[in-house]
Amino acid sequence: MERLPGFRDFYPEPLPHPGLWSADARQFIFEQWRATAQRYGFREYDGPPLEPLELFTTKSGDEIVGQLYNFTDKGERTVALRPEMTPTLARMVAAHERNYKKPIKWFALPQLFRYERQQKGRLREHFQFNADIIGESDLAADAELIALLIDTLRSFGLTAKDFIIRLSSRNAWQEFYDARSQKSEVRSDQAHVFFQIIDKLERETPDESKRKLGLLGFSLDEVNEFIKSGTPTIELAAILKNLAAGGLGEFVRVDYQVIRGLAYYTGVVFEAFDVQGEFRAIAGGGRYDNLVKLISGGKVNLPALGFGMGDVVLLELLKARNLLPKFEAALDAFCLIEDETLRTESLKLIHDLRGAGYAVDYSLTPAKSDKQFKRALELNSRHTFKLERTETGELVVKLKKHPARKEIITNPLELAAKLSAEE
Ligand code: HAM
Repeated sequence: MERLPGFRDFYPEPLPHPGLWSADARQFIFEQWRATAQRYGFREYDGPPLEPLELFTTKSGDEIVGQLYNFTDKGERTVALRPEMTPTLARMVAAHERNYKKPIKWFALPQLFRYERQQKGRLREHFQFNADIIGESDLAADAELIALLIDTLRSFGLTAKDFIIRLSSRNAWQEFYDARSQKSEVRSDQAHVFFQIIDKLERETPDESKRKLGLLGFSLDEVNEFIKSGTPTIELAAILKNLAAGGLGEFVRVDYQVIRGLAYYTGVVFEAFDVQGEFRAIAGGGRYDNLVKLISGGKVNLPALGFGMGDVVLLELLKARNLLPKFEAALDAFCLIEDETLRTESLKLIHDLRGAGYAVDYSLTPAKSDKQFKRALELNSRHTFKLERTETGELVVKLKKHPARKEIITNPLELAAKLSAEE
């Protein structure tokens, strides 16, 4: 049985084949994500991987809706695997926001599902670090979130030579659109269609973009000129100033080419890319001040902003820059059971050590001592020990530290202390 295309199996290291996905690398990425989010005062939340289809069809926009894994369940409900976390977060916040002080700073590490055309950096399932701030309209929140994005990437050892945050604003594009829609040839109700064309500028041919823009009454030249100007709006200038004050100025630049594909963004938007332009976007986000209101049917109105960073491109980038640590599983100790009459006593000792927090393993079935020893070394055990009965009937432990193989003899009750002393 093959797994589905675009889905991944994660194996423990060392990997049998370099093309496989590493469970250790995934864990490493999760740990950095969590640690950085917590350093910024974000709290972890989660929601269900399966949601009512409607949660996504009205809110996320056409592109993501075309990629939904949706079906009718046995209770005749139309449901979808979550393609993104933001609508779930908006629902959760709207339901219980009164119990949380604002601004709410939350993060999650969901697995998401999109029926995408498979390509480099894009699969049909991925894990995404989501960090969002809800209930704060001040631009300081936008700067704080971008700072978190920068520091998350820096926590992996990436520098300004490796990545850049391209900062833009839907407001700037909206103004551009409105100014021209006052002229009769541009329709005033097609801003979302216009945004989609801008979002795809880098991925479509100039002729295709020109044709689509022409249908709305725009020329590709005027669009390109606006992008080239790159003049920061007042809000972008404030964010740049805030980031520069924190020493993060070199990681950000204004780039109006970014507008974001999702329909719900309302203000500042941004994406993180590798500087050399080899990979797809590492992360993307922005302000979505109307989504909580929309999802709560008008009951709760809170400004919000956030970003999502996928594990797929990040891992490709870390591999390319040689920034992944070497993953070596290790045990604190391996118990050699050479005398089967001492298996019961050995088990007691093993469980005591595990209870005290040590990683301990042993041979589940009787085995020759050289075989047990070999397994201990294969498992990268820092110690081996075995129980022995002295001539006077007393139990002692022979403990060896590796790789030196220096042996000491100790009392079973003192083994845990000896293991830490030896570290
Ligand atoms: P998004 O731009 O659709 O935003 O996704 C964010 C990141 O997730 C992308 O930059 C990319 O790293 C990763 N990603 C997306 N799709 C795939 C895929 N098919 N395979 C691998 N990686 C992928 C959102 O999802 C927004 N909900 C983020 C957000 C949170 N905005 C506000 N809060």
